[in-house]
Amino acid sequence: MKVVRTAKSQLTKVDFNNLGFGEIFSDHMHSMEYKEGKWGNEQIIPYGPIEVYPGICSLHYAQIIFEGLKAFYGRNGAIYLFRPQKYHERMNQSCERLCIPQVGLDVFLNGLKALIALDKEWVPRKRGYSLYIRPFIFATDNFLGVKVSDTYRYLAITGPVGAYYKEGINPVRLTTSGEYIRASKGGLGAAKTPANYAATLLPGEEAKKKGFTQVLWLDGIERKYVEEVGTMNLFFLIGDELITPPLEGTILPGVTRDSVIHLARDWGIKASERRLSIDEVFASSKNKTLREVFGSGTAAVISPVGEIHHGREKIIINDNKIGPLSQKLYDEITGIQYGERPDKFGWRYAV
Ligand SMILES: Cc1ncc(COP(=O)(O)O)c(C=O)c1O
Repeated sequence: MKVVRTAKSQLTKVDFNNLGFGEIFSDHMHSMEYKEGKWGNEQIIPYGPIEVYPGICSLHYAQIIFEGLKAFYGRNGAIYLFRPQKYHERMNQSCERLCIPQVGLDVFLNGLKALIALDKEWVPRKRGYSLYIRPFIFATDNFLGVKVSDTYRYLAITGPVGAYYKEGINPVRLTTSGEYIRASKGGLGAAKTPANYAATLLPGEEAKKKGFTQVLWLDGIERKYVEEVGTMNLFFLIGDELITPPLEGTILPGVTRDSVIHLARDWGIKASERRLSIDEVFASSKNKTLREVFGSGTAAVISPVGEIHHGREKIIINDNKIGPLSQKLYDEITGIQYGERPDKFGWRYAV
């Protein structure tokens, strides 16, 4: 693989004790181009502007997919990726839905390894911080007819990050939307593709103006069943059952979601993937069996939910405090990510 090093590293400009999310980019990126039926021209190049024609179809019709995973600086000085094979599997599933050519696992992993080896000083040393990795593929045919592109560009960019929510691990406030939906059966909901996020911007802004962190999406047909949040899957601890909505094509199959289910079952907790109506959630709050609600996602890992509004009603969960199971899951997952706890399921991948 050809490597073109940056002439001017930005590293010394970064305050590694004070990181937000997604604001800073590391020096290099992994790049490939797809034409005549195969990926090629693989290289690592400096992070910077790229030239594209204004007519490229992805700018107009959003034939694009992306992923989001992290690298962690372990206590012993090793750098670990968390479950990269699972993110890669989902990336290829998104490719399939968007008619984008898939990328081989070896190519994906070797590219990330080379990139992180070159930019290893960009991986934050501070506990709670990490290197966010954003691989993405966009269609590059310079053509305005609506059709599947023949050419593509793959890029993986990275950047050091801190907490995703300004709340940190403090509880977030969610509201359902009476007006909008995120995805419906048969649509794009399970793919990590920009259109899904574009659909949530206006409802998200309206919710933020009212003081909410994000919208809690209900299903697009009956508007009754809980689905997910803008960037997180959802879990409800009702009595002794941990419930999360099933993967029926409308929500993103979260890697953190999968990790939570594995851990909970390993700890002897009944973890169910089943439909859960918003009425059942509110009823369980009234009869005091609703113990914890939390979101799961790469960015925040576990994010406790303190308050849910639905129509004119609202519920407060666990006195607006993080619950014991949420805390235990957060500690276990981050402990595995930073190489502090045993890796029973083989989720750590040293680079
Ligand atoms: C819509 C949506 N749901 C759920 C998730 C959580 O998925 P993961 O745990 O793989 O980050 C994300 C974030 O990637 C997301 O964007």
